[in-house]
Amino acid sequence: MYAHAEIHADDGRIVPIMTFGPISVSPDSQHQGHSRILLQHSMEKAKELGAGALAITGDGDFYGKSGFVVASTKGIHYYAEPKEEAVPYFLIKELEDGFLDGVTGTYADPDGYDCEGVDIDAFDAQFPPKEKVRLPGQLA
Ligand SMILES: CC(C)(COP(=O)(O)OP(=O)(O)OC[C@H]1O[C@@H](n2cnc3c(N)ncnc32)[C@H](O)[C@@H]1OP(=O)(O)O)[C@@H](O)C(=O)NCCC(=O)NCCS
Repeated sequence: MYAHAEIHADDGRIVPIMTFGPISVSPDSQHQGHSRILLQHSMEKAKELGAGALAITGDGDFYGKSGFVVASTKGIHYYAEPKEEAVPYFLIKELEDGFLDGVTGTYADPDGYDCEGVDIDAFDAQFPPKEKVRLPGQLA
């Protein structure tokens, strides 16, 4: 799923970009190149919809293979972390060459991503308890 997002640039501009994810491939279909194809296809669609750049919180080794770089190296800060901290899991990629030239600032997730003010524990209590497990192929 892709969603519109914004960088609040230090010079006052609001730079529209997109965020997306997560990508999941069924375990019996992993390591056959599906996620790379899904990512490539969906990034082309996002570009067709006008996205000049993408941001995602994710695994740098995995997304790095598709051209994502750590956003702090480009001066783009993730709103949920202290500004002076390098955030290795916050990644960015230009879909249009030069789209982020001269842009530094702060990225915030879209409103729909934010659970602030929601009683998450009460919501979770409606479902049977789950055990946290780590499965093969799971990045985080
Ligand atoms: C991560 C995941 C989407 C990869 O899907 P996949 O179809 O098996 O991946 P691909 O076969 O297209 O591989 C694409 C590249 O990612 C790498 N890769 C695949 N799984 C990986 C893993 N678990 N950790 C690190 N790199 C991985 C591959 O080596 C490949 O790189 P290469 O082409 O240089 O060899 C899949 O394992 C999955 O659904 N995991 C659980 C959900 C998850 O953690 N998603 C995180 C993304 S938000």
